Order: sequence, then C-alpha cells, then structure tokens
Amino acid sequence: MAGGILVVGSINMDLVVVAERRPAPGETLFGDTFRTVSGGKGANQAVAAARLGGATALAGRLGNDLFGKHLLGALRQEGIDTARVVCGPGETSGVAVIEVDRSGENSIIVVSGANAAWSESEIADAIGALKGRGTLLLQLEIPLPVVVRLAKAAREGGVRVVLDPAPPSPEPLPADLMASVDLLVPNEHEAAALTGIEIATVADAERAATALRQAGARAVIVKLGARGVVLQTDERTERMPGFRVQAIDTTAAGDTFAGGLAVALEEGRPLREAIRFAQAAAAISVTRLGAQSSIPTRAEVDAWLDEATEQGRSPQ
Ligand code: RIB
Repeated sequence: MAGGILVVGSINMDLVVVAERRPAPGETLFGDTFRTVSGGKGANQAVAAARLGGATALAGRLGNDLFGKHLLGALRQEGIDTARVVCGPGETSGVAVIEVDRSGENSIIVVSGANAAWSESEIADAIGALKGRGTLLLQLEIPLPVVVRLAKAAREGGVRVVLDPAPPSPEPLPADLMASVDLLVPNEHEAAALTGIEIATVADAERAATALRQAGARAVIVKLGARGVVLQTDERTERMPGFRVQAIDTTAAGDTFAGGLAVALEEGRPLREAIRFAQAAAAISVTRLGAQSSIPTRAEVDAWLDEATEQGRSPQ
C-alpha cells in the first residue's frame, strides 16, 4: 500500500424516498418507503475506500447540528481519519433529497449548507494533509476553487489525482484543473456535459474520452453503466465490459467506483485490474438501497470477483 488516500469533498444527509415512479412536475404521489442515509459524494468515496481496505482520510465540512453529529460518528466508525472534517458553528449540514423509482433510477436535489463554506485556513489544512499520500480523490460537490487548489497542489506534490466530475458541470472545467488530473472518471452524462458530445454509443464515449484527454486529463474512464467503461490512456482506447445486475438504486455507484479504483491503484494493481475491482464494488452497490448503506466491504467484493471468475461471469 502506498501513502494512503485523501478524499476532499461533500458530506450530506440523504433523505431517500422510494416510489413506483418519480412524480411529474406538479404531481403528488404516495411513496413506499422513507429513509435517512449517510451520503454526500465525498463521504461516500471515503467510506468506499475505507470499507474496501484503503487507509483513508476525509477533509470536508458539516453543520453543528444533529445531522452533522450523526454523519461524523458514522465516518469515524468506518475508521476514516476525520481530523480535517470541520463542524461550522451555526451552520447546517448538507442534505440531499433523493427520489428512487422501481428501475433504480434517481433524482436528487442537494442543498449544500456547510459544504459550500470552505475558509482559506481549511483549504490550507487540506493541502497540508496531502503530504505523504498516494492518491487524492475529488468530486464537484464542493466549491470549484477548492477542487482546483487541491488538484494543483497534489500534482505539484506528486500525489495521484482522481477526479469524478459529478454532479455534471454546466461548463468545461478550468484548464489548470484538467492539467492536474491523472484519472478523470465521468459517467456518460458528465462526459457529455463536459464535452458537448451526446453519448449514445461506445464510439461517442471514445470521442468524449479523446476530447477530455486533449483538455488535459492523463487518462479517462467513461462509465457507461451496464455497458461497462471506455478507458483511454496514452497507449490505448478500449471498452471494458460491465457486470449485469438487478438495479435497486444507483445512488453512490459512481462514488463506490472511485473509492474502489483508488484502493486498487494504491495497492499497486495495474489500471485494468483496478477498474475491474472498482466495477465489481459499484455493481454490488446498485443492488442495495441508499448511499453509504449500499457500499460493500472488501470481503464482499473479493468473493464476488472469485465467483465471477469461476462462473465466467463478466463480459456483457
Ligand atoms: O453520489 C451520490 C450522492 O449524491 C448522494 O449520497 C447525495 O448526497 C448526493 O450528494
């Protein structure tokens, strides 16, 4: 294991409603279940990395409220180093209102709360925490300038930068951010938003990956759900097949993929093997409801991959 993983990102309480379908504008529906689940893209990535066996620290912000206390406790229980998780006095924790339908698709509204209020000294502390780490994991649910500062500092310090550009950015990412990214891991919607390329086919995803590499990212993995991923590096462009599962809820699948990828790369595994590990972790997560409640352990992923090898279950 190299120097460990630092995640810098959002922490939310997810308010999850499951219903037959998601309501149309102006419509009221009766749902089946309601749950509060620990979430937030940064926290989910950190939980995934920790459960999958990585030495993990998280830098983020919470409100000084009941949700904040609960969320912090849950992160600590996972063995995550939370020394740089700040509870802002008088602030409210981030929340995400999530509707999940029977096909496992979701709609999410995020109210950022404390996630949006990074101070200069907190950014400096997070940059200081890069020292000695192997991998920095980032997403776009905290202010973009914070993401840019962390990514640039990591690149200067020789720390691998993995960016999941979620939620989708309405405009291209700054050139200095893209130039700092070792691995960009968008899904098809995020890749489309960043490049303006509508992604219907694998060939479209390859074109988007090329555009994102031309914009500065060293390698790009476009996630296509059950169709697998398109990987593009200096050496090659290829589609890697995915695992087909019965989806209950896709929330946090991308976060789980990013956490799994970081853990496998930290263990020194080759990129293709790391992707397969991340795909397995993400596939298991979509068979369960909620964000952190859906993230598998290392033992579960290893067992899944063993079984997949035995049964020849993989290429779809
Ligand atoms: O990626 C899933 C996450 O997005 C949820 O946990 C929710 O908090 C939103 O931020």
